[in-house]
Amino acid sequence: MILKIENARVFIANKITYAEILIEDERIKKIAKIIDEKPDEKINAKNRLVIPAFIDSHVHVRDFFERYKEDYITASKAAIAGGVTTILEMPNTKPEIVNCEILNARIELARKKSYVDFGIFIGFNGKNLDEILSARTNLVKVYMDGTLGEIDYKDVEQLVEFSDKTIAFHAEDYKRIKENREKKLHHLVRDEYAELIAVKKISDIAKKYRKRIHICHVTCKDSFLYMNEYTTKEVTFHHIFFTNNLYERFGVMANINPPLRKLSDRNFLIEMLMKNRIDIIASDHAPHTLDEKIKGAPGFPCLDIFAKLVLTLMNYKILTLEQVINYCCKNPAKIFGIKNKGEILPNYYADLLIIDYKKEGIIKQEEFYSKSKFTPFDGFKYKGDIDTVILRGEIVYYDNEIIGKKGYGKYIGDL
Ligand code: NCD
Ligand code: ZN
Ligand code: ZN
Repeated sequence: MILKIENARVFIANKITYAEILIEDERIKKIAKIIDEKPDEKINAKNRLVIPAFIDSHVHVRDFFERYKEDYITASKAAIAGGVTTILEMPNTKPEIVNCEILNARIELARKKSYVDFGIFIGFNGKNLDEILSARTNLVKVYMDGTLGEIDYKDVEQLVEFSDKTIAFHAEDYKRIKENREKKLHHLVRDEYAELIAVKKISDIAKKYRKRIHICHVTCKDSFLYMNEYTTKEVTFHHIFFTNNLYERFGVMANINPPLRKLSDRNFLIEMLMKNRIDIIASDHAPHTLDEKIKGAPGFPCLDIFAKLVLTLMNYKILTLEQVINYCCKNPAKIFGIKNKGEILPNYYADLLIIDYKKEGIIKQEEFYSKSKFTPFDGFKYKGDIDTVILRGEIVYYDNEIIGKKGYGKYIGDL
């Protein structure tokens, strides 16, 4: 099938240019002012911006024994609604993705159900280095907060030394969290120091072995300033938009790991985003039931509103268009080795968004495709949303409706 996008404004070579895009068999074939070839189908972009579709490198899909919270169908539909056509999913599932057998079962499950392309992290638990080295994924996740068991920094050294895969860290020190237990309140138990201890140790390990590592959901100025040239950094929407005063409104429903921080930390993250000192913005989509949230389960669903939030940041002039593309498309593709995605270039996969930059509205959590319906963004006034989503040359979202297909999503290891 040959598809042509007409009347588009495309961000190429750091500027917006009027262009047509020709797509053939999943990929971009040509970008030019005028394309003469006759397509099978045309899309009129109506002078709107066309940008690469988003890659969300931090997603909890749940499924397996936690289908009641979320599954591959609902999570991947939420992704499309958020303009995300590639998700990288985290291994803290039930059962945990810590060996090749479970990883392979997971890939099979996602192949049957996913509407979007997907990569999967294998989790490091301190004892499974062999499994990690032979796994069919280049993505490794390490939880220093005890999520997959209490991991020694000595074991992390071994992993960093012997593996050439991309290692992402949840940086909160489990010993510090344990010591703080009697403080009870979530943000006091998981205090800034818990993040700083873990960040210091893993940044030092990366430097010692001269290996690049990735640090998920950075929240504090002090830990940020400790990182070095071997660490790439992710921030989440929640830590950009909210501070710990959310606890006054929502109590334990505001729980998230790492916790929301004070205003000066939040403002520092925004400053770093504006100065290109951060590498990735991710959703950390972490669905729970309402009952679980009331009992304090940490995390929020966020895939459905990915595009609305990032385009609002652009409309607020916190991010430029170039930064949006760097943080949500180009850098995640580069850092996690996702081939031929994240940019609009000939031979790249035609993963594209047509943007309605001026569309305004109110976020309504009950409209989420995610099974999880509690977000502090409920009632938030956004400006900017997607109009059309294209994944590998197929239109998967148009006219406010998902028209993609279950099982169309591909494993990134097969691309
Ligand atoms: C995540 C989850 O629920 O799986 N929760 C969260 O608060 N971010 C776990 C995590 O990302 O650490
Ligand atoms: Zn985490
Ligand atoms: Zn997470």
